Amino acid sequence: MRFKDRVVVITGGGSGMGLATSKLFASEGATVAVNDIKAETAAKAVSEIEAAGGKAFAIPGDVSSRDVAQKSVKEVIARCGRIDILINNAGIATIQPAEEYSEWERITGVDLDAPFYWSQAAGALTMIPGKGGAIVNISSLAGHVAYPGDVGYIAAKAGVLGLTRSLAIEWAKHGIRVNCICPGFTDTQIIKDMEAIDPDRFVERRRRVPMGRAARPEEIAKAVAFLASDDASYITGAILNVDGGQIALSSGWSPA
Ligand SMILES: NC(=O)c1ccc[n+]([C@@H]2O[C@H](COP(=O)([O-])OP(=O)(O)OC[C@H]3O[C@@H](n4cnc5c(N)ncnc54)[C@H](O)[C@@H]3O)[C@@H](O)[C@H]2O)c1
Repeated sequence: MRFKDRVVVITGGGSGMGLATSKLFASEGATVAVNDIKAETAAKAVSEIEAAGGKAFAIPGDVSSRDVAQKSVKEVIARCGRIDILINNAGIATIQPAEEYSEWERITGVDLDAPFYWSQAAGALTMIPGKGGAIVNISSLAGHVAYPGDVGYIAAKAGVLGLTRSLAIEWAKHGIRVNCICPGFTDTQIIKDMEAIDPDRFVERRRRVPMGRAARPEEIAKAVAFLASDDASYITGAILNVDGGQIALSSGWSPA
């Protein structure tokens, strides 16, 4: 029960690793505010958490709107009094060559603008006045290295590393820790959607993971929970790869 009576906000918390993270925090005593752009997905996550005996409520909306970030943070403060932990998890990807890339604003809006908007709102409205908090940003191994076909995603996820370090050093004096997880290849809808566009690419993709498999969303959730917990009380500005060894293999070789 590491998160007993803690108030946790998770963006994109209705599916994939966000859902796994929402469930893990709730199972350890947190009240979880579940954001998702799909209201029914957020509502389903809340029902599943409540059915398991946990506490949650939905705050649906598009994370990439500054207005939604402000209103959602205010709503959670009105209901719960404060926010202890913010997980900037919502993310989207696409596959388009750079020279034809037409989704720059949509992708960077969700993947980079949103973590800033939500952190700024939570910092200013509750964590700084409350003298403490923890933020975990979900970047990607694409924050460190590139792959072809999603220039907006790769630029945005690299930006999340800078956002993490910047907020960590500015807000350490307020007792706010800001850290980042870089998941590797993880079996969630975002991957199923991309795999449907280009299946052959993903056969090779799976083969190139040193641990020989994709992550389970629950494995990412455990790392997120660690960084958000008091067990990580002296960790801030950290970038933690949870990737089955994929960054370690960015030498261009195939796994042994
Ligand atoms: N799956 C992977 O292999 C992988 C690898 C590295 C990083 N990531 C990152 O992990 C995070 C979670 O991804 P996932 O794999 O669980 O994906 P997912 O598609 O299963 O879940 C993402 C959730 O975000 C929600 N969402 C999308 N756009 C939104 C918006 N504008 N506002 C609010 N909610 C929105 C979706 O409805 C969905 O519920 C993302 O930031 C993603 O970039 C994923």
